Amino acid sequence: MNQKPQRAGPGVLVIFGVGGDLAKRLLFPALYNLLQEGLLPEQFAIVGFGRTEVSEEQLRDQMRRNLREASGESSADAAAIEWIVSRLSFVRSDFTNPAGYDELATKLREIDQALATGGNYLFYLATAPEFFLDVVQHLGQVDLLNQANGQWRRVVVEKPFGHDLESARQLNRDLTKVAEEEQIYRIDHYLGKETVLNILVLRFANGIFEPIWNRRYIDHVQITVAETLGVETRGGYYDHTGALRDMIPNHLLQVLALTAMEPPSAFSATALRGEQVKVLAAVPPLGARDCGMCTVRAQYGAGNVEGSSVPGYREERRVAPDSRTETYVAMKLAVDNWRWVGVPFYLRTGKRLPIRRTEVVIEFRKAPLALFRGASSTLPQANRLVISIQPEESISLEFQAKVPGTEVTVTPVAMRFCSRDFFGYKNRTGYETLLFDAMIGDASLFKRGDMIENSWSIIDPVLKSWAQGAGDLHSYAAGTDGPEAAHELLRRDGHQWRALA
Ligand code: BG6
Repeated sequence: MNQKPQRAGPGVLVIFGVGGDLAKRLLFPALYNLLQEGLLPEQFAIVGFGRTEVSEEQLRDQMRRNLREASGESSADAAAIEWIVSRLSFVRSDFTNPAGYDELATKLREIDQALATGGNYLFYLATAPEFFLDVVQHLGQVDLLNQANGQWRRVVVEKPFGHDLESARQLNRDLTKVAEEEQIYRIDHYLGKETVLNILVLRFANGIFEPIWNRRYIDHVQITVAETLGVETRGGYYDHTGALRDMIPNHLLQVLALTAMEPPSAFSATALRGEQVKVLAAVPPLGARDCGMCTVRAQYGAGNVEGSSVPGYREERRVAPDSRTETYVAMKLAVDNWRWVGVPFYLRTGKRLPIRRTEVVIEFRKAPLALFRGASSTLPQANRLVISIQPEESISLEFQAKVPGTEVTVTPVAMRFCSRDFFGYKNRTGYETLLFDAMIGDASLFKRGDMIENSWSIIDPVLKSWAQGAGDLHSYAAGTDGPEAAHELLRRDGHQWRALA
């Protein structure tokens, strides 16, 4: 990760599921941004692969329109869009049809000859998860994963990676029969978010935080991913998945790992990922008994979000009318190592909450003596370091200060760094760094097989306990800040969630 090349080397990006939302909304706009930043090589091409009923010309047209829209019609760089579109070709095929892969292999050979792309291929699986293995196996069968003669071939696998521990293990086993672990880039788009990476910089590029980043000074940690969106068009997928599987083993545990990991010995893929694996292994899975006490699940009912009334979860399209799928989950985890033992990590995520906000709150222990108790308008509060990941990218330190005047009145204030104010606004999708890193072969921001399995090991017992009926399914009205039970989870420990306001 240290010294990145100035631009990616020659290669072809093959997008499986090119007609899907991910390709349109994120991958192509990310390529456009990379091109604008001068990070794509001249010897570059894109092949779309998928079932979508369009001709190559129609696909190009769609992408042209889509890129114009994504980059803001008036400010769109027409030459950059043409550059991308002219390098796009299409293989129309089912993911399970061997003939499609023969066609792909032929097309790639032609591109290599025409554009000197050197037989280097990045295969991006933007498909439904049931096709991940099929695609990789077929690529193996037509020898497209063979890295002989200094060529590189890599596979980016989207989430969800398995639906429980056993299926994730099985997928790892099956994939590594066809490709080397080093060729597999398991993506978590949270690692493309600037402030998620800023957690590492904050911790390890500064001298002042690390000495107090432990159980002696930190009281507890809160990680929140609050969304205002409901399940939108994804009812069919979501109703079989739920908030726990959808968000915790990937995004929230990823953020937890970066917050709690030990300093790596180098800023390299091996060291960074090794420390994350270790810290996840230190999170004890919740036993059946703790599960009822330490987890809360809930589903939203009808309500009002950002001024509009919205239906309840069970009224959403393609959701069972008697669904018991959770759209909200809160949990209390521990990290049992020397640094963190005794420090609770509270996680919560939910759909249809009052605001969209992802943040990490580090709450420090309170001052040992309430010296200003009598003189203060409010009781002294704990210092908090709030790392806001989205929508605002900021870091603020909350502390107490004296209100000017003859009285000694103490009030909470904050010192705040806001990325946008400091560095200005950049229109980014969050996929630029991840795509570029996969092209240059830097796996630091991708998950290794063991990281995924460690995350599922934490979640699996919860899934099992819930399936056996542990913990009620609570409800909350859309637009409110989750069920009362989630507040009670912290209140029991004398804590309180940072308000979602
Ligand atoms: C996805 C989940 O992985 O992350 C979605 O499947 C969720 O349900 C999304 O909405 C949240 O991502 P972001 O970047 O908007 O926080």
